[in-house]
Amino acid sequence: MASLKVHDKEFVPYINAKEIGEEVARVAAEINRDYEGKNPLFIAILNGAFIFAADLFKQINVEAEICFIKLASYKGVKSTGKVITAIGLDTEIYNRDIIIVEDIVDTGKTLSQFLPTLEHQHPASLKIAALLHKPSATIHEIKIDYLGFTIPDKFVLGYGLDYDGLGRNIKEIYQLV
Ligand code: IMP
Repeated sequence: MASLKVHDKEFVPYINAKEIGEEVARVAAEINRDYEGKNPLFIAILNGAFIFAADLFKQINVEAEICFIKLASYKGVKSTGKVITAIGLDTEIYNRDIIIVEDIVDTGKTLSQFLPTLEHQHPASLKIAALLHKPSATIHEIKIDYLGFTIPDKFVLGYGLDYDGLGRNIKEIYQLV
């Protein structure tokens, strides 16, 4: 794996495809174990999580459903500041076992704003699966139930993650120099 240039920035190889595959398999095995006899609904957050969600879901062997949503933020009319809504969430989540699938939890801001919206609809349970976590970037603490890799606070791309639109199709994860 050689370094690569995307837009104006240089990236170096960080996590190879084999390592990613092994961690995705481990996360899938944990979920299969925990959800035996259940029928979880995976909610994958676009765009970044689409590759992780697909690879993970292929290895889920309990009865399961998946849907893909986009998050849009707007200013609340009250003093609550930004509100995040889900576009494309057309499946009932009341009393369902929900697993959110995220590419990366960075500051935690996105999920901290979105999770209350879901909790409001009273799922039976609500867990989070994330491929990557940057704990040193945390502003809003998020409990990640199923995690692939803990990484330092450095920008990464590949395997679904982009830099300004590019890089999502790269099979490995690269790190900004
Ligand atoms: P958070 O709200 O700060 O946790 O950020 C979550 C979102 O920011 C992720 O779902 C990604 O789409 C994006 N993001 C955060 N860090 C990176 C990165 O290093 N590379 C690419 N996208 C990132």
